[in-house]
Amino acid sequence: MSDFYQVTANQALQGQIDISGAKNAVLPLMAATLLCKGVSIINNVPQLDDVATMADVLRYLGAKVSHQGSRLIINTHACHGHQAPYHLVTKMRASIYVLGPLLARLGRANVALPGGCAWGPRPIDLHLAGMQALAAKVELSHGNIHAYAGRLTGTDFTFATSSVGATVNMLLASVLASGTTRLFNAAIEPEIDNLIDQLNAMGANIFGKGSANLCIEGVDELKPVEISAIPDRIEAGTYLIAAAMSRGHVRLNQVIPEHLTALLAKLTDCGAHIECDPNGITLDARHKPLRPMSIKTGPYPQFATDLAPQWMAMCASLSGIAQITDTIYPDRFQHVDELNRLGANIRVRGNSAYIIGTGSLSGAPVKATDLRAGAALILAGIVAKGTTQVNQIYHLDRGYQDLTQKLAQLGASVQCCSSDKHSATAQLSLCG
Ligand code: EPZ
Repeated sequence: MSDFYQVTANQALQGQIDISGAKNAVLPLMAATLLCKGVSIINNVPQLDDVATMADVLRYLGAKVSHQGSRLIINTHACHGHQAPYHLVTKMRASIYVLGPLLARLGRANVALPGGCAWGPRPIDLHLAGMQALAAKVELSHGNIHAYAGRLTGTDFTFATSSVGATVNMLLASVLASGTTRLFNAAIEPEIDNLIDQLNAMGANIFGKGSANLCIEGVDELKPVEISAIPDRIEAGTYLIAAAMSRGHVRLNQVIPEHLTALLAKLTDCGAHIECDPNGITLDARHKPLRPMSIKTGPYPQFATDLAPQWMAMCASLSGIAQITDTIYPDRFQHVDELNRLGANIRVRGNSAYIIGTGSLSGAPVKATDLRAGAALILAGIVAKGTTQVNQIYHLDRGYQDLTQKLAQLGASVQCCSSDKHSATAQLSLCG
């Protein structure tokens, strides 16, 4: 059975929704529980495939993981494993986050090399260089990372490229190292701050939160704690772009506006009216036509690469020209061909896409090539004339909790359907 979303043209999105906890914050918080024995609790956890995959990795290592709604309980008393297998790591690249804590607590780790993704290579050289800088021995053989160490030893380490994942792994490894580790050019995404808060609550000594220069004084032992994940700024940004391109009026609750400064500035430049309060953001795009705006992605607090596909869908649906340059991933443009199937006029040259917005899109069958590309196609379908069928929607289950329900709350008609490939004609059974 292959599920797809049936998206019909909609009125302007109106209403309010609650934003879920951040996938990209929860995954490091889950990996950090491997650093000690005991029962850790993580609140505000979204129910997503990637969270389920990380839970399976922890279970494979011996942990007991259970859910109570958005509360995750992780018991690591019986955690003795040091292997993260290929079938799990290849499902989700962030499984590599277990490398640091396994080395720190057990002195060894066998982690399958994560594959690439839809838009090209996703190297892990910075992760491995960081472990070696902490005095771990690292060998690659038969598709696996074999790493081992006595006790890791604190060091100075400079990231050649700002890397969220490599910063996560270095934090998770250095907190139990002997001596002091100083990190330079570390990632400063909000998800890193969330992890630092958890580790310091566990008894770590990490200084410099919010800056690219971190100092970690290694300790001998950490204890389990309860922590809450921050709201998902990429989910929030996706719905704000949907509201803007549909000329709607939408309020997002349970979101931190400071985490979206670059996007909010660009939406304001486009002509949307934005109001923020400590717990929410309201966007109003009802009163004047929007202009497409060019963007360039970059490490936080610059415009997030994970919002660039959605931004492209908006620019393609407006009248005017715009350029999108991605400085994080030079080839993250798999969604261009699919948007062009919806009547967009987009050309790619190097790490830039050039959009000539014609002011309207027309519905057609398309396929999601990755998580954020799928989101972009749904947003385009919401404003396109007629019906858009978005296939390969399993990508979306990785990063958007209750997607169709939240869109329905805002007045969008996005239905999950299944086509039975074996019947003479595809029977559309609306699975709600
Ligand atoms: C995280 O991926 C996010 N994933 C990604 O979100 C996000 O796109 C990315 O950060 C950038 O913000 C999670 O947090 C689970 P990086 P990560 O290491 O850590 C290069 C989504 O849609 N690099 O910050 O893998 C890399 O190729 C996902 O939610 C190396 O060269 O990204 C890229 O060009 C997609 N060597 C740049 O650094 C390395 O060892 C930034 O990547 C590691 C990274």
